Amino acid sequence: MQPVVLGIETSCDETAIGIVRGGTLLANVIASSVDEHARFGGVVPEIASRAHLEAMLPSIQRALTDANVSLSDIDAIAVTAGPGLVGALLVGVASASGLAQGLGRPLYGVNHLAAHVSVDYLTHNQPTDPTIALLVSGGHSSLLQVDDITGSITKLGATMDDAAGEAFDKIARILDLGFPGGPAIDREAVSGSASAIDFPRGLTTSNDWATRPYDFSFSGLKTAVARYLEGTPSFLRADVAASFQEAIVDVLLLKALAACKSTGIDSLVIAGGVAANSRLRAVATERCEKAGIALRIPTPALCTDNGAMVASLGSLMVSAGRPATKGAFDADSSLKVEQVSL
Ligand code: KG4
Ligand code: ZN
Repeated sequence: MQPVVLGIETSCDETAIGIVRGGTLLANVIASSVDEHARFGGVVPEIASRAHLEAMLPSIQRALTDANVSLSDIDAIAVTAGPGLVGALLVGVASASGLAQGLGRPLYGVNHLAAHVSVDYLTHNQPTDPTIALLVSGGHSSLLQVDDITGSITKLGATMDDAAGEAFDKIARILDLGFPGGPAIDREAVSGSASAIDFPRGLTTSNDWATRPYDFSFSGLKTAVARYLEGTPSFLRADVAASFQEAIVDVLLLKALAACKSTGIDSLVIAGGVAANSRLRAVATERCEKAGIALRIPTPALCTDNGAMVASLGSLMVSAGRPATKGAFDADSSLKVEQVSL
């Protein structure tokens, strides 16, 4: 019988509980406080922490009901230990510790970023290692070489300024499209032209390719969009959204495919909230097919923050025989992407 693992995610504004049996998803409950943050234009940490406290027990209860299991059926617990908002993370870690102690089950403190990548194992049901992973979320953007998702991740490059999701959120704000900006730009772009405006592709000069091929920079793009809006009295918002989105998608995939080519790894996983972007998914499918690269992108609902990804990584750790996290531990708000677990 495969282990039943309960995963708890509270790194930002989602209180999320996932339950898996081996690689099979049994429950995925998400209580989001996003509406409470919307009028501030971004996540307010204190509001997020309080919302986690309120949502934790009902969410666990609902996940157990959805999965049709009881607490005594849970074999192990996994929790996001970082990175993220420290107060928010602490609610998850404290809840998971209490649960693990009360049930006498092992507890795995895992990395939110590795969990994003690992959720692909639920969707596609087989290990992909080694793979290149393009991890694009609201707080992080990096290119990773994943030799073993339970313990060996190498960072090839990362953003030097904004994360891709952050760039989406900031541009959406300038365009008056609301928060969170990614889904709003995705929708707006559908009726616009991706080639209407030629926005810059950051870090793609020949010198950049020679010195920092796998790093990203989106601040120049952000400035270019702001300048365009200032200098163009009557612009088509859909065209700006589509052209901005195209610039981000283009540069993300140029670098991801270059990493596949130079490492000789013909597998690419795209993970994190921005992986839900419809244009990124379409262009990635096209380019990977041409390049002979096996592409895996989780279903959109599993790209944005969720508990299933934490349960998934926990389940993989159990199957790999990795040791549980020893003793009491603190959340680590700046946990490095290479550290899969505590
Ligand atoms: O991974 P995630 O849910 O949370 C973090 O770990 O940060 O990512 C959230 C980010 C936000 O910036 C949001 O705007 C972006 O993912 N996002 C999208 C889409 N859906 C969410 N960006 C572009 N297109 C989307 N459809
Ligand atoms: Zn995330």
